[in-house]
Amino acid sequence: MKLKIYISRAYLLIVHILKIDFYIDSKTLEIKKKLMKEIAIDKKKKIFSFSKSLKQSNQVIETIELGKGSTITHLRKRKVCDIAKNSSVNKKIGKIIHNLSKFNNAKNILEIGTSLGISTVYLSTASSCSKVTTLEGCENTSNIALNNFNRFSIDNINLIKGDFSFTLDEVLEKTESFDLIFFDGNHSKIDTLNYFNKCLKKINSKSIFVFDDISWSIEMKSAWNQIIKNDMVTLSFSFFRLGVLFFKKDLKNKNYNFLQ
Ligand SMILES: C[S@@+](CC[C@H](N)C(=O)[O-])C[C@H]1O[C@@H](n2cnc3c(N)ncnc32)[C@H](O)[C@@H]1O
Repeated sequence: MKLKIYISRAYLLIVHILKIDFYIDSKTLEIKKKLMKEIAIDKKKKIFSFSKSLKQSNQVIETIELGKGSTITHLRKRKVCDIAKNSSVNKKIGKIIHNLSKFNNAKNILEIGTSLGISTVYLSTASSCSKVTTLEGCENTSNIALNNFNRFSIDNINLIKGDFSFTLDEVLEKTESFDLIFFDGNHSKIDTLNYFNKCLKKINSKSIFVFDDISWSIEMKSAWNQIIKNDMVTLSFSFFRLGVLFFKKDLKNKNYNFLQ
């Protein structure tokens, strides 16, 4: 009996330390296991060489900082390696978005915020049948991403340059629905909610929305807390720094089989 109490306490402590703040039942643990699965070696090699080439680049580019409400706040000279190290998904987050895309069998993917394309490559390598549309407002940063997609022969990515306040509407208008949308652009509350509400019009039964940096600021925490209350969301969980949303109706009955 005492051992059982110790085990359950240790389990709760681990859950707390890892900041896994959703109720863990066996089905959810199953999902978690799938999301933490290693990426196939050939794909991993490609992703790592792509990101290594950026992390080793001392090229300096002038970047445009797009702030709240998409206003250009300032221009900044930055080394490509610094952008790659500081503004891109890390290996763990990359693996999770890759696996979400893989297990959802996502064909039509949208990414809001390309930067140098590291997360885009994690998404695009999940399935060769998938098509990733990715949006980026900084011309010089997106040119580096485009060059690297070509260099590594990654041809299922369509990068659209321009401010989200124009490009997002254009893309959504042209597309019937997206199976997965990765929100990793402007981290202000008002814009995050705005992009979420626009994208909601383009969901299908298996769509998944993934938000990066949901605990990054008070604004992002508040945006996330508002988003998960939306009636169309049937399941939500936070996973490390990611917030994940599902819309499949039968999830209300805790049916997670769609991830198999
Ligand atoms: C955090 S970075 C994306 C990182 C990328 N997803 C990765 O993990 O490799 C966010 C990107 O969104 C772009 N961005 C921010 N606000 C924007 C806006 N309003 N319109 C277009 N691009 C924007 C920035 O230029 C930046 O490159």
